Amino acid sequence: RFPSINARQTVSPISKDVGEIPELDWDNLGFGIIPTDYMYVMKCSQGGNFSNGELKRFGNIELSPSAGVLNYGQGLFEGLKAYRKEDDSILLFRPEENALRMRMGAERMCMQSPTVDQFVEAVKATVLANKRWVPPSGKGSLYIRPLLMGSGAVLGLAPSPEYTFIIYVSPVGNYFKEGLAPINLVIEHELHRATPGGTGSVKTIGNYAAVLKAQSAAKAKGYSDVLYLDCVHKKYLEEVSSCNIFVVKGNVISTPAIKGTILPGITRKSIIDVARSLGFQVEERLVAVDELLEADEVFCTGTAVVISPVGSVTYLGKRIAYGNGVGVVSQQLYSVLTRLQMGLIEDKLNWTVSL
Ligand code: COI
Repeated sequence: RFPSINARQTVSPISKDVGEIPELDWDNLGFGIIPTDYMYVMKCSQGGNFSNGELKRFGNIELSPSAGVLNYGQGLFEGLKAYRKEDDSILLFRPEENALRMRMGAERMCMQSPTVDQFVEAVKATVLANKRWVPPSGKGSLYIRPLLMGSGAVLGLAPSPEYTFIIYVSPVGNYFKEGLAPINLVIEHELHRATPGGTGSVKTIGNYAAVLKAQSAAKAKGYSDVLYLDCVHKKYLEEVSSCNIFVVKGNVISTPAIKGTILPGITRKSIIDVARSLGFQVEERLVAVDELLEADEVFCTGTAVVISPVGSVTYLGKRIAYGNGVGVVSQQLYSVLTRLQMGLIEDKLNWTVSL
């Protein structure tokens, strides 16, 4: 076990297993949990500050049955990735953006949250402690899952008296079973992911439980995932269960504007900048479902999915298909983004953090 560490320190793990490359089928990583060596844990009482973060052996945690997260859903999560470069160094992609998003979410959910510095240093420490699990260059990435939860005991509805911040990691490959092949979406007309004034724009755990019913029904019918519409007009695109959506028409790339019901994705934001730098016109606005009929290409973005081309969208029984294979714009954006994330092209915007 490691001694407690100050969150600003970088930890060099000293353990006999640290140097050994795990026996994994690196060519066939999907998106599932693979237990790794260490997790990071840091606590804070209501009104206090997070302190004394430490790396512990990855394993189960103990919670009161009346913990706020279990009873009232006071929980947030984040997702980011670490890539191994050819020279064996490791790159993180925009970790401070995740830290800031967790702080915004914590404010909405009445939770204490780590500072940006604490968050980023904890991510670095966790990745370094699990370095052997970062897939070889070009074989995938280490998915990093920071969690913030109301861990203190409550009975009456109130903010939890204690908060726990945890980071665990898992090597991953492609999110969808289709790999990089286009996915098939179905538009959900009855169930909604988020409502105005609700929590759709923060990464709270309940948003993900709320989509399982529609997602399971879609998967049972052979679709890859669900695309949600706004709940007021049932007309405007919102997002897919676990990623944002983009529609391409000529040189114009449109994506639903952030307006409280859509998750402000870090990949979404990065793709908007990358696309503009490549000369595309990017519009953040209301995107009507009818625009899918006219689109040349549709793609999804997210940390887990990266960029996933959409092969078809089915709406009220009508299937709209987008050509054969991956669209040229989706392919171009995917290629630039992933080469940036893997350190294969110059990072002019300082998005990557090298470990
Ligand atoms: C991510 O892209 O990191 C997410 O948080 C989506 C999750 C449902 C896998």
